[in-house]
Amino acid sequence: MLDFQYYSPTRVVFGRNAVKELGGLLKDRKKVLLHYGGGSVKKNGVFDAVVEQLKAAEIDYVELGGVAPNPKIGLIREGVKICKEQGVDFILAVGGGSVIDSAKAIALGAKIDFDVWRLYETKERIDGALPLGSVLTIAAAGSELSNGTVVTNPEGGLKRDYGADYLRPEFAIMNPEYTFTVSKYQTACGTVDILMHTFERYFTHTPDVDLTDELAEGLCRAVIRAGRKAVENGNDYEARATLMWAGSISHNDLTGLGRRGDWATHQIEHELSGQYDRVSHGAGLAVIFPAWCRYVWKEEPERFVRFAEKIWGVDTKGMTQEEAVFAGIECCENYFRSLGMPVRLSEMDIDDTHLHEMAVKGTYFGKRTLGGFKVLDEADIEAIYRIALK
Ligand code: NZQ
Ligand code: ZN
Repeated sequence: MLDFQYYSPTRVVFGRNAVKELGGLLKDRKKVLLHYGGGSVKKNGVFDAVVEQLKAAEIDYVELGGVAPNPKIGLIREGVKICKEQGVDFILAVGGGSVIDSAKAIALGAKIDFDVWRLYETKERIDGALPLGSVLTIAAAGSELSNGTVVTNPEGGLKRDYGADYLRPEFAIMNPEYTFTVSKYQTACGTVDILMHTFERYFTHTPDVDLTDELAEGLCRAVIRAGRKAVENGNDYEARATLMWAGSISHNDLTGLGRRGDWATHQIEHELSGQYDRVSHGAGLAVIFPAWCRYVWKEEPERFVRFAEKIWGVDTKGMTQEEAVFAGIECCENYFRSLGMPVRLSEMDIDDTHLHEMAVKGTYFGKRTLGGFKVLDEADIEAIYRIALK
């Protein structure tokens, strides 16, 4: 096990009445930016529930809605301007990963006197950001507890991340009922993303991390069951609750403690949804991960056999090592497919036109490699896209 620090400062308020705590959590704030997405929160009543609490607690707020999935830098710049002009001292994100990430970007931009996109490009460090909190409406990205934010600049189709511990939200209000209206497709995308946040940490060469492995495997098994149930019946509270909590702890570092993660699948996917805005992050991951597995498994086949046995319940007795590896990969791919996810680029109407370009962008134009389980260069990334094609 490697040395580690664990820092997860977010207060989680979980359950059917969670929103009632909002006024108390915001009581010392002078002005709040209420940030939300494309309208789901207005349709399902979450927005009204939040506003009711703000009004009851006499919290002064200003609104900025309209965050699109794969949040764009344009609206973020608008948010930064509002914060600076109106003296906003807290951002409340009401939505999913896109809204929370957009809020984090605004929180960064409010503290600097240059364009916030520069941080995503250069990764330069700054001292802090405005504090923020969230009312979560979809179980997926885990941004409600994570230190990261991912933003798209449509100029050049670039999707870039930035991370800092001060971006971990102060609180997360989580009512699983708020996710009842999430579509089957987005529920499936979220399930894949939650699994992937643990898989990215699971594929490691670091030995002797048994406790972390057991936590990771238990989480994945629960998510596999809950994802299936929530896709079948969106109003299944227990399944929604499991997904919601798993989404948070799958990405607050708990399932990766004491070892080095991989993250290549995520980086390869970010180029995909940066290039093709219609691609949801989770669907992109469902396509890339099986291809990544097929490309890298020889680096440590034993790890893939454990993946097959402990996460997918494959009985590998009598199989060769290679058969066991592929049985696990196929179980995973079949599960994604059973949720209604695409598992090939062609199923998302993507051909080979931009594969090379995405591989180049994935290395930040030759400035970095990806991954830890197998270190990937531009040619490797392109090879993985090609495996994912058909
Ligand atoms: O915009 P609205 O109308 O709200 O609709 C959203 C959106 O269309 C809808 N939705 C959300 N809650 C709903 C709902 N529809 C009905 N009922 C509800 N209760 O779902 C759609 C997807 O929302 P989005 O926020 O984009 O989903 P998700 O949480 O999957 O976030 C994806 C973004 O997070 C980034 C991804 O790259 C992507 O840009 N990620 C952020 C991470 C982080 N900050 O730590 C880590 C992740 O790996 C990921 O990269
Ligand atoms: Zn993700």
